[in-house]
Amino acid sequence: MSRHIVIREGNTLLSVPAEHSSGGGPGKKGSDVFFNEQMAFNRDVSVMLLRSINEKPTVADAMTATGSRAARIANEVPGTEVTANDINPDSVDYIKRNIELNGLTNCVPSNKNLHILFTESAYGYVDLDPFGSPVPFLQSAIRGCSRNGILAITATDAAPLAGAQAVKCRRRYQSEPIRGYMCHEGGLRILMSTVARELAKFDRGMKPMLSFAADHYYRTYVRVTEGAVAADNSLSQLGYMEYNMKTLERSTSKLPDENHRLGPFWLGPLHDSEILKNMSSEGMSREKRCDKMLKIWREELDTEVFVYDMSELSSHLKMSPPRMEAMIEALNNHGRGSKTHVSPTSFKTDLPLEDVLNVYREVSPDNLR
Ligand SMILES: C[S@@+](CC[C@H](N)C(=O)[O-])C[C@H]1O[C@@H](n2cnc3c(N)ncnc32)[C@H](O)[C@@H]1O
Repeated sequence: MSRHIVIREGNTLLSVPAEHSSGGGPGKKGSDVFFNEQMAFNRDVSVMLLRSINEKPTVADAMTATGSRAARIANEVPGTEVTANDINPDSVDYIKRNIELNGLTNCVPSNKNLHILFTESAYGYVDLDPFGSPVPFLQSAIRGCSRNGILAITATDAAPLAGAQAVKCRRRYQSEPIRGYMCHEGGLRILMSTVARELAKFDRGMKPMLSFAADHYYRTYVRVTEGAVAADNSLSQLGYMEYNMKTLERSTSKLPDENHRLGPFWLGPLHDSEILKNMSSEGMSREKRCDKMLKIWREELDTEVFVYDMSELSSHLKMSPPRMEAMIEALNNHGRGSKTHVSPTSFKTDLPLEDVLNVYREVSPDNLR
């Protein structure tokens, strides 16, 4: 087995391969067992979210690799019972060491193909964190998620979802991706529409708890809702879009037509504001980043689908961009506006394009000279 080191993440000690990924991109496989330091924030979010809800579910970290997320949940969310599973036999020593390092009595190692794990047992919280697309694992995860349980799903295949590899997106997600400034909002909403469509096949629906784009990946946490009506309700929140990069016009439609070729996207909310209210960054390994993101997620107009970027407005109107704060303030004087978590230069608003352009003109520094 490769050489290992011990690090601290949050309040948990983790034995991880000495050679591991520490930066952006999907992460190189530096050893037989995968670990990416940059995903500490992603694991922080799981801990914050599970701490914020009333129930303490049984947890299946189905693709746990070193057992890092499983150990953190077992250690930092009291009351959980965690199964740390990975198909790779080399993972087991890491998982066992991490259980021992933290003296965990509520975490068990498991070395199964998750397709088998989820035919044998169901869990209140199911986590999928694959290399690339979660699509091949979705059906099994849904089978393994108990009634009204939580599905937590990562997709690191951002290139197809964000439209850089449209052919792959059509094949994997059966969705037409969006390019340009709305690509990450679009990628996240394609992932969510895929989860909703897969759940519907089982007469199950979903209610988003928290969904975001970060670094090189998309992540969604959804509460599963039960029954045919719940499934139909979720499907009714899917729709299609059009985005004209020349005129900047954006529009949605419930059904695809020649003016709405993109999608299907999840057009419902990204988050549950009650859950966000209860989430706290205390003790997290990336506390500052957690605080910053919690603030943006809480304030974000998450039911608005259209993202506008200062750069597209500035080149369209040939006027210098205002400060983001000034733009948001002005948008809120006319309607509603907020930052978006996908980019520091983007915002969301409920105003129509014409009003957005007028507000921009009004606060552009060129107009104030
Ligand atoms: C990106 S890594 C997971 C990283 C981990 N969640 C973390 O936070 O460090 C993906 C893992 O999925 C595992 N895997 C792939 N196919 C699997 C399957 N069918 N069943 C269970 N695990 C699988 C791989 O062995 C690999 O360890």
